[in-house]
Amino acid sequence: MVRFPAGKEIDMSATLIVGGQWGDEGKAKIVDFLMKDHDVVIRYQGGANAGHTVVTSQGRFAFHLIPSGVLYPHVKGVLGNGMVIDPFAFIDELHEIISMGIDVEDRIFISSSAQVVMPYHKLLDNLYESELKEKKIGSTGKGIGPAYTDKYSRRGLRFSCFLLDKDELFEEVKGRVEFTNRILSLFNTPPLSPEKIASEVVGIRDLISHFVVDTYELICSFREQKKRILLEGAQGTLLDIDHGTYPYVTSSNCTVGGALTGSGLVPSDITRAIGVFKSYVTRVGNGPFPTELKGEEGNVLRERGNEYGTTTGRPRRCGWFDLVAAKYSVMVNGLTEIALTKFDVLADYPTVKICKAYRLGDRILDRFPQNSIVLDKCEPVYEELPGWKMKELDVSSFESLPESAKNYLLRIEKELGVRISFISTGPEREKTIIRS
Ligand code: GDP
Ligand code: IMO
Ligand code: MG
Repeated sequence: MVRFPAGKEIDMSATLIVGGQWGDEGKAKIVDFLMKDHDVVIRYQGGANAGHTVVTSQGRFAFHLIPSGVLYPHVKGVLGNGMVIDPFAFIDELHEIISMGIDVEDRIFISSSAQVVMPYHKLLDNLYESELKEKKIGSTGKGIGPAYTDKYSRRGLRFSCFLLDKDELFEEVKGRVEFTNRILSLFNTPPLSPEKIASEVVGIRDLISHFVVDTYELICSFREQKKRILLEGAQGTLLDIDHGTYPYVTSSNCTVGGALTGSGLVPSDITRAIGVFKSYVTRVGNGPFPTELKGEEGNVLRERGNEYGTTTGRPRRCGWFDLVAAKYSVMVNGLTEIALTKFDVLADYPTVKICKAYRLGDRILDRFPQNSIVLDKCEPVYEELPGWKMKELDVSSFESLPESAKNYLLRIEKELGVRISFISTGPEREKTIIRS
């Protein structure tokens, strides 16, 4: 129970959707599926590095900044204060969904405290990556790391800048480009034109300012109206800046802590924490991945799962389900439920494997190591289980699944100690089995 605004006791229930692996788990499919029973969707971190796909009768939507829950007309979508948002990419995405028939009028809000991603952040992102040579992170090049760097070094621009008058906005941007030019000179990179960039940003001011709101006021009004909120995570637990496989991570907190700081909700608001996991594991970008299947086995899984990035089109690295990493995600986020996606992709394998521990030299580990160099040396210890057939998955209940499929799911559930509430067997809404 939260006393907010002062004196009033108002319950709010929020559902957290968080990626359990290295991103692309199918979070957007689950967000969209659950959205009919929620009123508000809030993206709480990340930026246009995210690629969230939703397939409906209206078409295939690829969201990057706009929350994936907005396809229902009753839903309001918030780009929370924890996000880093490229305002030009936001406008493009807005036009894209409008052209697909989505009405956005009075339904999409940007927190005035969210950070602005500037063209120079993207330039710096690529420069820093090229400096890393063979140790590249594999960034999406969307300027995420440099934008968060500016946020934490208190040089960033918040979206409230679009509420300033045009001259003030021009000066704010110009000063930051001048500063960035001093960094660029260290890399022998030609300077950017402060006036040109400032003019471009001023040029979109009126369009953007229309969407900028005070999140404090907004959350107060959601509380008063007892709105049902869904928090949409981007990336995944193992890409979290604190809890992930550092330094091969993104620059935000993708986990439960980030959901609070990045939205303005309080801990007691979160009544359900649903971790989305693929039935196997993928990773795009570099870094340790103990169950990765290299060579032909990996290619087969990639083709079956159509594992190519929504944002960059890069092929995703693929491997078997990793219980050690999944247990870690359950712990980090305090998950209350699991949604397991792409279950159809594992169909028609004669047997499927689950990694139940890691072998490190002559030691067996059942805990996820914190150090990426150590994790990189870990070899998976597998358990092999009987497979199931694709045609057997066209069912509406868990009970009707073939025994081998149930066995796989129950095995994961038992190890994780968390209920698998949803099993997704296709990108479409109707291809979702709900455990009663
Ligand atoms: P997100 O970033 O976690 O939202 O996931 P992405 O959208 O990047 O990637 C997931 C991909 O898998 C998308 O193309 C989805 O349409 C697709 N997808 C989601 N659930 C399922 C499923 O159960 N089966 C299959 N075959 N595809 C799915
Ligand atoms: P969604 O929300 C998968 C990865 C990049 C790179 C690392 C750092 O669709 O699950 P960044 O651009 O954030 O500095 O890149 O993180 N990455 C993702 N991988 N899904 C994502 O988002 C990702 N967002 C970033 O590939 O390895
Ligand atoms: Mg994605």
